[in-house]
Amino acid sequence: MWCKIPWMTYYNAYICANYYNKMIYVTRKEHFNAAHKVWRAEWSDEKNTAVFGKCANKNWHGHNYDLYVTIKGEPNPETGFVADLKHLSKLIKSEIIEVLDHRNLNIDVPFMQGKMASTEILAIEIWKQLLPHIVELGCNLHSIKLYETENNFVEYFGD
Ligand code: NI
Repeated sequence: MWCKIPWMTYYNAYICANYYNKMIYVTRKEHFNAAHKVWRAEWSDEKNTAVFGKCANKNWHGHNYDLYVTIKGEPNPETGFVADLKHLSKLIKSEIIEVLDHRNLNIDVPFMQGKMASTEILAIEIWKQLLPHIVELGCNLHSIKLYETENNFVEYFGD
């Protein structure tokens, strides 16, 4: 579409010709610390410990989470960007980091109420929170990658 604008400079036409229709993925990394407990009230302590291990600890415990939000799109012919990462970062901070950081996932976080505070469920809920805002930015959300520990992470690509 950009290529057809008559006043487009040679430079922009060049950019457009080369980068139009090129899908690229852009990731913003953020970090938060949060407490949780993964357990089921109707199960015995033994069963909770057997299934959830240390994450079933009665008096809570914390993780240092790393969150990777990946959007996708074509580079804008003028900026070369898929999105302004300042806007994306601001959005992730206001909608997710400020809600989760230094909080108890089971108690303090409205969108985790009544849910298992596993990394899987948390990643899906983060997707649901972010999606409408990312669409509003004019971007497509590709994936949520969430590290609970250095060695354990989950990835969600939507339905
Ligand atoms: Ni845990």
